[in-house]
Amino acid sequence: MRIFFFLSTYLFLVSCNNSIVEEIPLYKIEKQNISDSAMVVSAHPLATSAGVEILKKGGNAIDAMVAVHFALAVVYPRAGNLGGGGFMVYRPKEGKPITLDFREKAPAASHRNMYLDKDSNAIDSLSIFGHLACGVPGSVEGMYTAHKKYGKLNWKTLVQPAINLAKNGVKATKREVIAYNKYMDVFAKYNPHPNAFVKDELWVKGDLLIQRELAAVLTSIRDKGRAGFYEGETANLIIAEINKSAGIMTYEDLKNYNAEWRQPITFPYKSYNIISMPPPSSGGICLAELLNMIEEYPIGKWGFQSPASIHLMTEAARRAYADRAEHLGDMDFYPVPIEQLISQNYANERMYNYDSDTATSSDSISHGNPYPPESEETTHYCIADKEGNVISVTTTINSNFGNKIIVEGAGFILNNEMDDFSAKPGSPNQFGLLGNEANSIAPHKRMLSSMTPTIVEKNNEFFMAVGSPGGSKIITTVFQVITNVIEFNMPLKDAVHKPRFHFQWKPNTLFYEEGAFDNELLEELISLGHYPKSRDEIGQVEAIIRLPNGKLEGIGDIRGDDSANGL
Ligand code: DON
Repeated sequence: MRIFFFLSTYLFLVSCNNSIVEEIPLYKIEKQNISDSAMVVSAHPLATSAGVEILKKGGNAIDAMVAVHFALAVVYPRAGNLGGGGFMVYRPKEGKPITLDFREKAPAASHRNMYLDKDSNAIDSLSIFGHLACGVPGSVEGMYTAHKKYGKLNWKTLVQPAINLAKNGVKATKREVIAYNKYMDVFAKYNPHPNAFVKDELWVKGDLLIQRELAAVLTSIRDKGRAGFYEGETANLIIAEINKSAGIMTYEDLKNYNAEWRQPITFPYKSYNIISMPPPSSGGICLAELLNMIEEYPIGKWGFQSPASIHLMTEAARRAYADRAEHLGDMDFYPVPIEQLISQNYANERMYNYDSDTATSSDSISHGNPYPPESEETTHYCIADKEGNVISVTTTINSNFGNKIIVEGAGFILNNEMDDFSAKPGSPNQFGLLGNEANSIAPHKRMLSSMTPTIVEKNNEFFMAVGSPGGSKIITTVFQVITNVIEFNMPLKDAVHKPRFHFQWKPNTLFYEEGAFDNELLEELISLGHYPKSRDEIGQVEAIIRLPNGKLEGIGDIRGDDSANGL
């Protein structure tokens, strides 16, 4: 009787008002979840479920990572991927934290001036759209390498959920529909072959995205491991796609791709210890600079998004991003002075001309000198398992849907990560980021990233895992979530959901999320010498925190379909 009442009320409402149909959720999306022992937070509820199912089967955080990563490649194709790369920060229950770099690499035939015209001007479109924009993908190697070292469950079990999702289809959420429709013309332009994304009519919420070719590639990865992607049929399909136009990636580039285990960037902040990603990401170093530069100021007392705290955080960002442009790049190719950059002394020196009453002009700030006098759309997920292992992973194909090329016959989208290199000193990339020699293009080099997968420890115990997409805005997003928790004493939910701002040295613009700053605050910031400007959302955070009672709390951002679930 009760069911009948609800059903008839629902049908009545639906018949009266179409918008109610729109609001009926396709999936259970949990923005906040508290659990006893294990937690998964990702950008899509189905990817989160894939991870939780693996944990239920007795898998550890690395096993769940593999399942989540491949599931995201199916259900969240704008950023989840096989054709991209990323970074994992891993804090095992026992032993030292470690990171895995599965960032894309420049093909062997790359060269410094490959995106310049005959007058040496950068041709932005070449590094953003199409076959030449693509770096050698690292995701499959990354998953395979991590699993080989730390995985517990059988590889096939971990890839299978993604195959099922690709074969059976996934209902598109409202957000996905907006993205698919927005890029339909671009997909059609770059992909004359039939593909899963281009249809005769527009996508509507609930439409099934079925990806049979992608399912076949995943099956090959399931059965042959890394060789199922980097060799044989899949590799041939990728190279055939690349050869359709000016692409330079070869079969050898694919076959030889390798992921690297790297020591994390670690540094103390007050009573916490921060563990983050080293180069080729700029994330860990910039985060260290930012936190070191604000550490001695009482911003907790000044308050969340008070003029004084925004001013200080912006001035710190002005200096950290100037350093990023000059000093950061792939450390396998360029001697990045890591120890100096993340030292407290260096942060103090950089802040010598900080003025609490006036913004420093970006033109008067350049990079610091960290050398001793004689010498200079992306997605994040976090998983904590019941054994106490934690991973924080950010992965990307760079722009929304990467370079917009769907590999014919293979159904996955390639990255446009080459745009993260500095095509020419002084010429900004799509995120407005500048670069120099450290991040110039060279064969096999990895392009500088802003991805900042991070784990925070307190009293030598796991405290928090956090990360975000957002290009250059990733670093300031992670910075704000950490300060919201540590300095402004916010519950994690508020720390993630509250409005954010962003500053990156150049342009000299203090971006804030629409509606975040009221008129009084804006006037104060302008009087301090800042140039505030509103913009759309900044970052899309997934985070896990250990609560004082020992339970784990997972928080998904309200800025996406992010969902948290645990055991
Ligand atoms: O590695 C990087 O820094 C960029 N490729 C990330 C791109 C990104 O976050 C896009 N999302 N908005």
